[in-house]
Amino acid sequence: VLPTMLGVWSLLLLWGLATPCQGLLEMVGTLARIDQDELGKAIQNSLIGGPILQNVLGTVTSVNQGLLGSTGLLGGGGLLGYGGVFGIVEELSGLKIEELTLPKVSLKLLPGFGVQLKLHSKVRLHGSGPLGGLLQLAAEVNVSSRVALGMNARGTPILILKRCSTLLGHISVLSGLLPPQLFGVVEQTLFKVLPELLCPMVDSVLRVVNELLGTVLGLVPLGALGSVEFTLATLPLTSNQYIELDINSIVKSAAGDIIDFPKPPKPIKVPRKENHTSQVTVPLYLFNTIFGLLQTNGALDIDITPELVPRNVPLTTTDLAAFVPEALAKLPPDQQLLLSLRVKEAPTVMLQNKKATVSIPANIHVLSYLPAGTPEALFELNGVMTLNAQLTPSAAKLHLSLSLERLSVKLASSFVHTFDASRLEEWLSSVVRVAYVPKLNVELDVGIPLPKVLNVNFASAVLEIIENAVVLTVAS
Ligand SMILES: *[C@@H]1O[C@H](CO)[C@@H](O)[C@H](O)[C@H]1NC(C)=O
Ligand SMILES: *[C@@H]1O[C@H](CO)[C@@H](O)[C@H](O)[C@H]1NC(C)=O
Repeated sequence: VLPTMLGVWSLLLLWGLATPCQGLLEMVGTLARIDQDELGKAIQNSLIGGPILQNVLGTVTSVNQGLLGSTGLLGGGGLLGYGGVFGIVEELSGLKIEELTLPKVSLKLLPGFGVQLKLHSKVRLHGSGPLGGLLQLAAEVNVSSRVALGMNARGTPILILKRCSTLLGHISVLSGLLPPQLFGVVEQTLFKVLPELLCPMVDSVLRVVNELLGTVLGLVPLGALGSVEFTLATLPLTSNQYIELDINSIVKSAAGDIIDFPKPPKPIKVPRKENHTSQVTVPLYLFNTIFGLLQTNGALDIDITPELVPRNVPLTTTDLAAFVPEALAKLPPDQQLLLSLRVKEAPTVMLQNKKATVSIPANIHVLSYLPAGTPEALFELNGVMTLNAQLTPSAAKLHLSLSLERLSVKLASSFVHTFDASRLEEWLSSVVRVAYVPKLNVELDVGIPLPKVLNVNFASAVLEIIENAVVLTVAS
């Protein structure tokens, strides 16, 4: 059964024959480096949590009405004649594997190939021995397998069993009597039976782990804005300590259009990964794309009216005249102001000098109006807001919280007099802080999605802002 199944799978695969390299990387997407510890944990959990062990034993019971005897595996000739012990073998009929201890998992990554997986376990056998007495045996058994890491037709990382064997250790008699001439028969039998029994168990384990690996590929909704689709950009790579996945993030609008931005020309210098940690590197590109999506959705636009700001923030023509008396003194007094802020170009995110900043170009129309009246345009400003971004990881995303660092404006056009608009910067900054930044932070609730790999939780990750990327590191 096993070789044919492997053959079919191999057709779908291209092997990741390269190993990851440290240092400068031409990253297309989000880079996930998953420590071997996490793979070990996933494998161990699949054995603890699932029905795999139970199924193995189920197979034993249904297939073998006892390992020996006429209906057992050695029935119908074959080894029955072995050593002339026919009569005694008949007496041993009904010997069954009744327990398989939870295997201890040990694994070693094989650079450029995949994983060497070892399961260290024990089987207990139970039956009636010669003269009808109870016979209980225990044997140590190790499963040794070579598992390749590749990519399946859907584009998810996949582990495939390539080779599997079992090593039988010492057989001990726990109770009853096993005559020496039968010892060899039992050993031979186990030798023949165990690989057929335990190698499918490895396959079952890999099926569970592959499901976890498959979650890398997925559609992450970004509220009402659209979604991010994660796919593998290249074949998965294996080093001697970790698995590396270059994950493409395709950002789509709600209408399904791909939001594409020019990729940054400079490669990213990904820091070295320490042993027993997993790492995700989120490129600047993804930040810019998410902001691009917010901008094309109009989520960065706002109309600021006095209702949106506290009373102590001035927002009338009288206040305005006080800032620039020589140009604006002639405005009709005590009219309310409407600041219509529009972001017509995509913001620019900068990840530099351990800091994340966002620069949002904005077009601000200043209008005056009386309650129930029609707004009247006063002047138009072109501005740039520079905001500091505080980054916080959670299990599934990187949260951003912005605060205004500075705002600079220039007069673009005026229906009144021309004036030096920089004199309005302080006032506009206070308005933007109370009325605009909180709205931005609500919109940014979508966050920067992180790929899901083997359930590694990045909520407690240490975060580092490097040149053009953010690196999250979590201990395993
Ligand atoms: C099985 O594996 C364990 C742990 O690696 C080792 O100590 C033991 O000697 C192995 N036994 C056999 C029979 O290979
Ligand atoms: C990680 O572990 C490997 C093997 O155990 C060792 O050779 C290597 O030096 C370790 N790397 C670091 C950064 O500690």
